[in-house]
Amino acid sequence: MLLYNLIKPLLFKLDAELSHTLSLKFLNTLHKLKILKLLCKACYYTNSIPNTNQKAIHINILGINFKNKIGLAAGLDKNGDYIDALGELGFGFIEIGTVTPKPQLGNTRPRLWRIEKYHSIINRMGFNNKGVDYLIENVRKSKWVKNGGILGINIGKNASTKIENANQDYIISLEKIYNYASYITVNISSPNTEGLRDLQSGNAFCQLLECIKSKQNELSIINNKYVPIFIKIAPDLSEADVNFIANSLILYKIDGVIAANTTIDKSMLPEQYRHEGGLSGKLLQSQSNYILKTLAEHLKGKIPIIGVGGIADPLDAVEKINLGADLVQIYSGLIYEGPRLIQKCINSLIYK
Ligand SMILES: Cc1cc2nc3c(=O)[nH]c(=O)nc-3n(C[C@H](O)[C@H](O)[C@H](O)COP(=O)(O)O)c2cc1C
Repeated sequence: MLLYNLIKPLLFKLDAELSHTLSLKFLNTLHKLKILKLLCKACYYTNSIPNTNQKAIHINILGINFKNKIGLAAGLDKNGDYIDALGELGFGFIEIGTVTPKPQLGNTRPRLWRIEKYHSIINRMGFNNKGVDYLIENVRKSKWVKNGGILGINIGKNASTKIENANQDYIISLEKIYNYASYITVNISSPNTEGLRDLQSGNAFCQLLECIKSKQNELSIINNKYVPIFIKIAPDLSEADVNFIANSLILYKIDGVIAANTTIDKSMLPEQYRHEGGLSGKLLQSQSNYILKTLAEHLKGKIPIIGVGGIADPLDAVEKINLGADLVQIYSGLIYEGPRLIQKCINSLIYK
């Protein structure tokens, strides 16, 4: 979008978290003034996806009819404050959260850095969010959701909850959001909540999957509705770790997997840029693609995969699909390229 090219230099002069908040508020204002729709339509025509192809890009996965394969990754709209505005940008699905049972402030600032030279971002936000009840109110109000928009809700544990009690937090949120989500993501891969990633291995992982699956079965009977559950994993895993995860997902009949979250490996960055937190964007791409490929080889299509990490241009999205992703998500690329990246990626995947 031309408008993004105009405001980007200004936004990039501001502190990263401030410019993030201002961008979302600006987007929301454009949406409320009904300008966003017009801008998106204009962009849609200049990028020229023929109208007739819109149906062709619909894809049904796990019984969900995704409008296209390009989704918004979790973390941009943690509380679901901007669903309707983001929905107008053309995403096939939007994932909101990570949300925790109780509201929490997250880590102290600064906690977000743009590494412009490398088209990457480091964050150590620490699940700053207003809690699951607040998020649900937003989902209830969303016109985009009412009109059939595909919404993923990503859940995590509160920082104050001991890691050995983490399952309780996931169950609290699962019960509350079950009726409001098209799919649910269980996030056990943020590097910014102490001990969270330990839930990806051994007994802790198996117990979590068992507990989630049994709650999902119970809720699907009570609500007469089956909501698929995805597990979001880290990119900092060995082949053996990935194989263990893949086997366990199959064993516990988990519906899907998202690969991957941000990386703690910052070795490819010069020392002065190595802030504390998780790295995303271009520099994450090869690591997240390695995890995706390993996962896909092991799962052999038994469980759908959402590929995320380092999509900065349409060919990156194509590469993820070729490596075995059924759907893809974007976050950092959106910050560097603006909303036009969405339409470009959709175009590149039309016949994939
Ligand atoms: C500022 C920021 C906040 C994030 N917050 C979350 C989050 O709350 N939950 C989550 O599952 N992932 C979160 N992520 C990770 C993204 O969803 C995504 O997995 C990761 O950034 C890789 O994609 P990308 O390279 O396209 O950014 C966050 C990423 C960034 C940059």
